[in-house]
Amino acid sequence: MALPDKVKIVEVAPRDGLQNEKTFIETATKIELVNRLADAGISNVEAASFVSPKWVPQMADGTQVMEGIRRREGTLFSALTPNMRGFDDALAAEADEVVIFGAASEAFSQKNINCSIAESIARFEPVAEAAHNAGIRLRGSISCALDCPYDGPTDPSTVADVVRRMLDLGCDEIDIADTIGTGTPLRVERVMKTVTELADAGTFSGHFHDTYGQAIANIYAAMQAGISIFHSSVAGLGGCPYAKGATGNVASEDVVYLMHGMGIQTGIDLDMLVDTGQWIAAQLGRRADSRAGNALAARKS
Ligand code: HMG
Ligand code: MG
Repeated sequence: MALPDKVKIVEVAPRDGLQNEKTFIETATKIELVNRLADAGISNVEAASFVSPKWVPQMADGTQVMEGIRRREGTLFSALTPNMRGFDDALAAEADEVVIFGAASEAFSQKNINCSIAESIARFEPVAEAAHNAGIRLRGSISCALDCPYDGPTDPSTVADVVRRMLDLGCDEIDIADTIGTGTPLRVERVMKTVTELADAGTFSGHFHDTYGQAIANIYAAMQAGISIFHSSVAGLGGCPYAKGATGNVASEDVVYLMHGMGIQTGIDLDMLVDTGQWIAAQLGRRADSRAGNALAARKS
């Protein structure tokens, strides 16, 4: 399949990137990160997570983050909402999109959200209905779409089952997530081909963690299967607290470098993105985990 002319990048550093940080990050730093990313031209920023603060203490200040960020015409700010409590908080905080997150593996579903896949869908039903009634965009995320850290490889048909249920809930967009970054391009292509038989390819995104260094190749494979929405995290920040050893999402700087190098539009100012990656890495006291970002920053200095 021909490669797309343009792609949508969903920036997940403020949520997926920071949720695993052990030391609490100041709310002001989180707000500045979101603002800088939006200023760089990112049209969809995952800005907060309305989950239990006992489970993920780092995300406890979601309301303050959403209240503090600068809203911009044309930029969507999304928030994770595992249940009605999370949805109500996200609605009050004026999230533009809410994200229900399930899994294609029973063990991960239990570890991450403390219920089975079937129970999670039942929990999402009222959230989906409330989102539709409130006119808010609904996204569904499917973890362990390639492999599960507990259950091993995931069959694409199992991913398709969860996709069907998320489509029934009325999801506008569905994330196919490689939570532990073990997927390789041909498997990615296979799962994307399987799910795009169920809905238009524009419904699906690739959310690839880069633990095994496969994410850029996986993005390329997904594009060949018609996918044109990708999640990435500036400076490669991140990891899931319920997937031990899983590192961050693919670095946004690397993805934008890839796209621009192939003449694919992103609407993002790579220079500003690189500066943001270097800035947040300095705030966290470490080197940015982006090859392109660090190379471009070195050239500038
Ligand atoms: P539970 O313990 O089964 O549910 O948690 P509960 O209803 O019994 O609630 C337990 C306590 O949490 C109660 O407080 C609730 O009030 C409170 P207590 O009475 O003990 O004081 N609570 C909440 N507080 C604030 N906001 C809420 C909320 N809900 C309950 N929304 C629950 C179930 C889903 C809440 C829990 O398991 C949870 O919060 N899990 C979050 C896990 C998480 O955030 N994981 C990381 C994000 S997913 C991810 O990273 C994967 C992704 O990137 C894709 C990929 O890479 O795979 C998206
Ligand atoms: Mg993730």
